[in-house]
Amino acid sequence: MVIKMEKFIPVVVIKEMGETDKILTALKNSGINCAEITFRTACAAEAIKYAVKNYPDMLIGAGTVINAQQCEAALAAGAAFIVSPGLSVEVAKICKQRNISYYPGCVTPTEIMAALDLGITTVKFFPANIYGGLKALKALSAPFPQVKFIPTGGVDRGNIDEFLAFDKVAAIGGSFFVKEALDKMEVEK
Ligand code: 3PG
Repeated sequence: MVIKMEKFIPVVVIKEMGETDKILTALKNSGINCAEITFRTACAAEAIKYAVKNYPDMLIGAGTVINAQQCEAALAAGAAFIVSPGLSVEVAKICKQRNISYYPGCVTPTEIMAALDLGITTVKFFPANIYGGLKALKALSAPFPQVKFIPTGGVDRGNIDEFLAFDKVAAIGGSFFVKEALDKMEVEK
């Protein structure tokens, strides 16, 4: 099922299963009901499965999915959406077949055109700070008015508002949501 994306997409790295509750609880307490659990660690699929079961009111997706195998593992674990740092045609095909939202990383006109060819109109813009930030998004939106972006990478409290103010920004991704949520939880202890 294609699910409406949340506005904030925390990029979550679970190094060991024991961290899952702490991170998801901190996010929830911060009012963030979404987590992109990344395939950067061996326990990613297990963490997604656990999160889907134990945090049913949160939108749990998989990030850093770079091949079909990881995509299959993420979907088997119950991921509701898939994010990649770049564009994988294989991953796109699997997600399309299963009617799952796929947000590939696209920063050039050619990559955006490849995404459009696959029927994808919302892409991750990563690393946003390196590839020109808001200025680049605005320039890309001229030829691609149908495309929405999820800027990720180098987004923080200092620049999030300017991204959010642009109507082509569908959501914001970043690890800073996790850091902030954990810091807040620490302070409130
Ligand atoms: C990602 O994979 O989306 C990035 O590592 C997130 O970048 P950030 O840590 O700068 O938010």
